[in-house]
Amino acid sequence: MMKEKIEKLISEMTLEEKAGLCSGKDFWNLKGVERLGVPEVMVTDGPHGLRKQREGADHLGLNASVPATCFPSGAGLAASWDRELLGEVGKALGRETRAYDVAVILGPGVNIKRNPLCGRNFEYFSEDPYLAGEMAVGHINGVQSEGVGTSLKHFAANNQEANRMSVDTVVDERTLREIYLPAFETAVKKAQPWTVMCAYNKLNGTYASEHKWLLTDILKEEWGHEGLVVTDWGAINERVDALEAGLELEMPASSGINDAKIVAAVKAGEMDEAVLDRSVYRILHMIFKYVKTKEEREALDVEKVLAEDHEVAMKTALETFVLLKNEENQLPLKKEGTIAFIGAFAEKPRYQGGGSSHINPSRMDSALTEARNLLGDSAEILYAPGYDPASSDVDEALIEEAKEAARKADKAVLFIGLTDSFESEGFDRTHLGIPESHSRLVEEISAINPDVTVVLSNGSPIEMPWLNKVPAVLETYLGGQAWGGAVVRLLFGDANPSGKLPETFPLRLQDNTSHLNFPGDENTVEYREGIFVGYRGHDALEQEVLFPFGHGLSYTSFEYSDLKLSASEIDENDGLKVELTVTNTGSVAGKEIVQIYVRDEESSVQRPVKELKQFGKVELQPGESRTLSFELDRRSFAFWHPRLSGWRVESGDFTILAGASSRDIRQTATVRVNAAPWTDVVYQRSTRLGQIKDHPVVGEKAKEMISFMSAQFSAPDMEEAERLMMESMIAEMPLKSVISFTAGQLLNEEQLVQMLETLNS
Ligand code: BGC
Repeated sequence: MMKEKIEKLISEMTLEEKAGLCSGKDFWNLKGVERLGVPEVMVTDGPHGLRKQREGADHLGLNASVPATCFPSGAGLAASWDRELLGEVGKALGRETRAYDVAVILGPGVNIKRNPLCGRNFEYFSEDPYLAGEMAVGHINGVQSEGVGTSLKHFAANNQEANRMSVDTVVDERTLREIYLPAFETAVKKAQPWTVMCAYNKLNGTYASEHKWLLTDILKEEWGHEGLVVTDWGAINERVDALEAGLELEMPASSGINDAKIVAAVKAGEMDEAVLDRSVYRILHMIFKYVKTKEEREALDVEKVLAEDHEVAMKTALETFVLLKNEENQLPLKKEGTIAFIGAFAEKPRYQGGGSSHINPSRMDSALTEARNLLGDSAEILYAPGYDPASSDVDEALIEEAKEAARKADKAVLFIGLTDSFESEGFDRTHLGIPESHSRLVEEISAINPDVTVVLSNGSPIEMPWLNKVPAVLETYLGGQAWGGAVVRLLFGDANPSGKLPETFPLRLQDNTSHLNFPGDENTVEYREGIFVGYRGHDALEQEVLFPFGHGLSYTSFEYSDLKLSASEIDENDGLKVELTVTNTGSVAGKEIVQIYVRDEESSVQRPVKELKQFGKVELQPGESRTLSFELDRRSFAFWHPRLSGWRVESGDFTILAGASSRDIRQTATVRVNAAPWTDVVYQRSTRLGQIKDHPVVGEKAKEMISFMSAQFSAPDMEEAERLMMESMIAEMPLKSVISFTAGQLLNEEQLVQMLETLNS
């Protein structure tokens, strides 16, 4: 129905109308075609709240927007590792998008946290592509269940803010396929976002906005994306090239300049009008999907929606905080005595990040007010700001006042972290430190009152040189508008923390494998660390970290047992079921996030020590046990073969690791995976004897050559080391060299050609 209607519309549109539809009317609205009944629709940010501006439009989050619910930002959402919860958040976002008559909310962002300094890490989910992809699926399906669209961004390899609108990201295909593309791939395949937003940057020399391989070959053809591709705001380079590459919608408006270029290209016969029609089809399809929503669904009452969504924001915040350290059960705090809340964030929370995602919250809870409400007369809360939240300079008078409060109190809670001038869209951090005014507080207060808990508000990892001076640290990321209520409930044990880190907190910035190539020079950044991003890098280098990927504590404890695999040997396409029992061995209810990693025990290419391939979250009462079940598929075992350009599984043993974090592996089991032989390997004159010695047809001949040469080069009194060296050198011998080394006795030119023919047939 929709298809015919749209095709008819396209046939009735003039060339100018069609070209016009391919760019915005203004900052946030698409054009309509009034005479044909095509309405104007609005798209707007995103991702963790709706930023609808009525006037004063900008993509920097500067001008006012309508009240909307501010959910925890991407980093926190991913710390929940909770697919269902992401779905609920998405649904709430979708409701607000619909209530405010917006067709598409611009998010989620699934760019990989390549380096902890990226200014926008707070908006993104993870350093791990599997976790990022799963979170995006929940988010997108939730939003779109409300009949409005999402914009999966920023496609692709947009992992820094330095030179963000122009930098050329240089990255090899295996790294793209294994690290930077899979979150997009999963989201597209499992959730079909209405739109995908192309990144500002270039990828291997071509702007993402005009990258045909990326936008058409991979996104549309390989992954089957049915929606449209929109530019990031202002990401267009050559409009016609972009259209031909598969970029449908340019945002914001180009004042008609680029529309005219499209018209001219068609008129001059430089671009087939069918290319334009295809693009218009996808744009109209999106517009009419939204029209259908408006026709079929009842209008929503904004006030009511916002009131309900605050509760969703609260529920969400509770799941996103990560208990990093809790020595001798410092937390939860008892609801008694005198407690000093120190740090301006207790009163003026830092609950969201700066830039285009910055929204106007419908309500704001402070930890101070929430604590006073929760505790009533049972405990006294003292408050001292300790620092000026708008400045990173130490204010001695504020420090003295804070020390005074700490002296008077039985215990202290310190609210510190990063300020907007330390991390934001638009620039990267230069170090992992927090403002000196915050770190000084930790030093001063912990010296006076060792009974101190640190509550962190920051969107990305920080260093903690003071860590051993405090018994407890609660990471709250940027927790959204219900942050205050959630913090207080967790601090005083009305709820139990269950979040786990979706990223590594390194000990030192220099330990991150991208350190030498971040953010590159003014034109280019080369991802030379390849696939060894985040824990994949720290594991390979066997580095100590501050807190590992996947880490997070609870007020209870969990035991893992009975890891079982559905088979001890499988074929690569069989799939494998992994079962595991988790028991709550503590005295309060809690949730545990179980992580399933896979390790390839032997491989012809370098592979990570382990990779996350599944996870699950389970709620357990004290003493309760449950068996969790996970499915691993072919991709869980595969790598992207750099030369054969495809996902390959190599026969051999794989270890399945069940962990409470990437560095707290509790159970392991082994499976043998049998893969079909690769029939498309191209053998050459440089192919080595060792590579073909097990080949079903020519293997015998290869072995014969190896033993012949071994005999030739062997001496009876050879030492073990010499024998070892000789054997390795023979296995390393390329076929072409066998001819000269054996003076053609074992292999001559003709035989070599014949052998290669057999191998390649
Ligand atoms: C950001 C996008 C955002 C857009 C619109 C751009 O600068 O990179 O994430 O959606 O502006 O505000």
